[in-house]
Amino acid sequence: MITKTHLLFSLILFSFLSNVVFKTEASAGSFLLSCGSTSSDADSDGRTWEPDSKYLETQDNSMPSTAEFQDPSLPSTIPYMSARVFTAPSSYKFSISLNDRHWVRLHFYPTSYSGLNATDAFFSVVAGGVTLLNNFSAYITAEALTQAYIIREFSLVPVPTGQLSLTFTPSDKHDGSYAFINGIEVIPMPNVFQNAMLVGFPDQPVDVQSSNLQTMYRLNVGGQYISPVNDSGLTRTWYDDSPYLFGANMGISFEAGKNVTIQYTDEQKPAAPLDVYSSARTMGPESTVNANANLTWVFQVDGSFMYVVRFHFCELDMTKVNQRVFDIYVNNQTAQVGADVILWSGGRGIPMYKDFAVFSTEEPGDEMLWVALHPTVSARPEYYDAILNGLEIFKLNDSNANLAGPNPVPSPMLIKAEEMREFAPPRSNGNAEVIGGAAGGAAAVGLVAAICIAAYQRKKKVVGADAAGPYGWLPLYGSSHTTTSKSTISGKSTASSHLSSLAVSLCRHFSLAEIKHGTKNFDESQVIGVGGFGKVYKGVIDGSTKVAIKRANPSSEQGVNEFQTEIEMLSKLRHRHLVSLIGYCEENDEMILVYDYMAFGTLREHLYKTNKPPLSWKQRLEICIGAARGLHYLHTGAKYTIIHRDVKTTNILLDDKWVAKVSDFGLSKTGPDMMNQSHVSTVVKGSFGYLDPEYFRRQQLTEKSDVYSFGVVLFEVLCARPALNPSLPKEQVSLADWALHCQKKGVLEDIVDPHLKGKITPECFKKFAETAEKCLSDHGLDRPSMGDVLWNLEYCLQVQENPDGVKMEKDDSETNAPMAASSSDIEMYHATLGLGAGGSSDDVIFSQFINPKGR
Ligand SMILES: *[C@@H]1O[C@H](CO)[C@@H](O)[C@H](O)[C@H]1NC(C)=O
Ligand SMILES: *[C@@H]1O[C@H](CO)[C@@H](O)[C@H](O)[C@H]1NC(C)=O
Ligand SMILES: *[C@@H]1O[C@H](CO)[C@@H](O)[C@H](O)[C@H]1NC(C)=O
Ligand SMILES: *[C@@H]1O[C@H](CO)[C@@H](O)[C@H](O)[C@H]1NC(C)=O
Ligand SMILES: *[C@@H]1O[C@H](CO)[C@@H](O)[C@H](O)[C@H]1NC(C)=O
Ligand SMILES: *[C@@H]1O[C@H](CO)[C@@H](O)[C@H](O)[C@H]1NC(C)=O
Ligand SMILES: *[C@@H]1O[C@H](CO)[C@@H](O)[C@H](O)[C@H]1NC(C)=O
Ligand SMILES: *[C@@H]1O[C@H](CO)[C@@H](O)[C@H](O)[C@H]1NC(C)=O
Repeated sequence: MITKTHLLFSLILFSFLSNVVFKTEASAGSFLLSCGSTSSDADSDGRTWEPDSKYLETQDNSMPSTAEFQDPSLPSTIPYMSARVFTAPSSYKFSISLNDRHWVRLHFYPTSYSGLNATDAFFSVVAGGVTLLNNFSAYITAEALTQAYIIREFSLVPVPTGQLSLTFTPSDKHDGSYAFINGIEVIPMPNVFQNAMLVGFPDQPVDVQSSNLQTMYRLNVGGQYISPVNDSGLTRTWYDDSPYLFGANMGISFEAGKNVTIQYTDEQKPAAPLDVYSSARTMGPESTVNANANLTWVFQVDGSFMYVVRFHFCELDMTKVNQRVFDIYVNNQTAQVGADVILWSGGRGIPMYKDFAVFSTEEPGDEMLWVALHPTVSARPEYYDAILNGLEIFKLNDSNANLAGPNPVPSPMLIKAEEMREFAPPRSNGNAEVIGGAAGGAAAVGLVAAICIAAYQRKKKVVGADAAGPYGWLPLYGSSHTTTSKSTISGKSTASSHLSSLAVSLCRHFSLAEIKHGTKNFDESQVIGVGGFGKVYKGVIDGSTKVAIKRANPSSEQGVNEFQTEIEMLSKLRHRHLVSLIGYCEENDEMILVYDYMAFGTLREHLYKTNKPPLSWKQRLEICIGAARGLHYLHTGAKYTIIHRDVKTTNILLDDKWVAKVSDFGLSKTGPDMMNQSHVSTVVKGSFGYLDPEYFRRQQLTEKSDVYSFGVVLFEVLCARPALNPSLPKEQVSLADWALHCQKKGVLEDIVDPHLKGKITPECFKKFAETAEKCLSDHGLDRPSMGDVLWNLEYCLQVQENPDGVKMEKDDSETNAPMAASSSDIEMYHATLGLGAGGSSDDVIFSQFINPKGR
């Protein structure tokens, strides 16, 4: 789903300095309350929070309390570890400036306070007459979003009295209900809103200025997480957009080159920080592909509200009008034809934004907000391409001055996983070298299982809000809270009974008749492989579309749970460089999965022991780059790490356009079997010749194990020989050992595929060999991240193509640092899916779960 080539190269110093100036101005009249605490303290970002008691109208109905448990994923103890608990309606009063809009941010950490059960807190929050939350359960919301804590951000219109009251009222519909709050921010803000055109009704402006808003999403498109202190003075949080990308076309993300100066002035600061404008996502260089494609994002929203979608643009590459022209769709309606950022903004490096309003009705499907860009082919631009730098989505209050939506409903799978977790013994500590196999690991596995599954089940993703930031989980647009009713409505109740409606909606459902027809009734002549799951058939659907069809062997160990899990997971793991699941069939006890058919087979069959023509060096580089992208996505695209565990040339498949796809990342075992510790722990999976020696030694799996295997793949591609060849002299049997030996002796060129002799430029060869060598470092820590590998391979391709002048604008030191940091040091559990071999695998696949702290 993501090409997360985050080549961070930024002018952060500049933005940081300018922030400081702006912030001191803005902080007058700001309130940051750490509720229930008795002293002022700074949080981990250095922002100071003061006690709340002097802003309370009365203290009779409330009590200060301290959280009984500190979740390791809390970003800071301030303000989350203290809370104020209300047993009856209570208000805070703030004296605020008359003419300013204000941010109101509410921080909730649902846990046990003063012996109260976190599940009992249902309450409403009303600010200056506007209902912000109603029947709100922070517990349910956090659970469904798999967050430890929730942040809700609102922007309120000026309050004419200058007195803002914030009232917490426990629900009277639930016995023993109470309200609580951990942190409150009330901060004056410049008016950054204008009236917006309603999509489809260009003559109907929507009055945004006099509306109260809730921030639903705030994304640094093609860029990285930006924390409140690094915002341009408005203490907003910006998130990576890649989890919201939909479909196969992920586009490419890039940073402004050094030769591009962004004309970022004080006027732009309220709109977005410089970092948002200095990175972007475009569709990619292939005009012919782009002409028939959309760059699409999908967001979960509440039905029956008006939304404003703000597009931030800043052209970083083109200089002329009609070079990059595109249409903008919001909810499948044309919001703008022929968007030309150069024409609008007046030139390269000039930031701007555009707002569009759209109404989301309560009809099924409309709880998703779709945003798509498509080249305006009819305008005949120089390139068929589109660009986007930032995206914000705000919900507008309805006519009852209400902004509150319903609580999300955790999916059945999540509930099941939760139940499993309760049966497991408590986790002894956060350190989980569970792969090693002690029984004590089971609990951690169960816990992560819950998280992992839930990561796909998110409803009501609210950015700004529930912090999918560095501590959060994958903010996928999760299953809807109307799971069951929806599948009934769609008439697929039998097929979808076990599946979230999202999976159902993302994934096609085939009838058994269609499958039988497409495989000549499972004729043996159609079999292209046999795996632990069952047989894999070649097939045809829709008359001509070739597919690979995996049919579960009825006696297969992998049962219904695995089948569901695979669909749940795979339907959302979409990436240009991962083989994708097209659909499934669940009928008459048959469990069948339908995948893209890869016309050109495996990478290996094009390298050696083949009568196929040898691949050119450029083709090989491009294939390696594609595979690296796929793996990089698995490692970092989600907020947890997916480790492939069986990277090898037979698991890199090629479609009919030579696009490399990492295959079959998915017969993942979750469900009850995951508790089966013996399974999880004893099988050191992977293929000899590719196995990370560290993994072997310490049974400790990290994403660097994939990097090791990928290093072997790189040498295999360079030398065109198997990873293990027992017929060779002893020192040459293992390609990894032999290639490293040759590289150290400086004679690597002697073992290069003879077809490549004289075809690789020296600089390219040097870089490639160094990259492969580093991947094979003995210790995982010394190996590059997949992102670094990717960058180095792209560099190789560049120097191969332009030996005289490399056009890459960044050097390693700048780009490597943020990449390397992106996946480490983050307090979270890494869930890993055991990944199978290609369509013809005979491997049985297991999931393994680890905590990065254990590394
Ligand atoms: C909290 O309430 C839930 C259901 O209402 C119950 O299952 C759980 O055991 C309770 N927890 C505690 C600590 O009492
Ligand atoms: C703000 O940006 C700077 C520069 O990139 C970075 O070092 C720092 O960690 C960021 N601060 C936060 C709180 O993310
Ligand atoms: C920046 O410079 C590089 C090479 O130095 C060039 O390829 C690229 O087109 C330039 N970008 C712009 C926007 O001028
Ligand atoms: C937009 O189109 C997609 C398919 O392209 C569909 O699944 C979705 O429901 C549509 N959304 C709306 C709001 O019509
Ligand atoms: C792009 O999105 C629009 C609006 O959803 C849709 O009408 C169109 O068919 C899509 N085009 C492609 C190529 O997917
Ligand atoms: C939103 O609330 C304001 C009062 O704060 C009200 O004036 C406005 O009409 C409401 N918006 C809508 C669309 O009803
Ligand atoms: C409050 O929320 C809970 C959980 O989402 C739901 O079951 C209940 O029906 C809601 N109550 C009201 C009055 O809306
Ligand atoms: C664990 O796996 C073994 C071997 O597949 C199986 O016989 C056993 O029933 C499993 N145990 C559980 C609790 O699933």
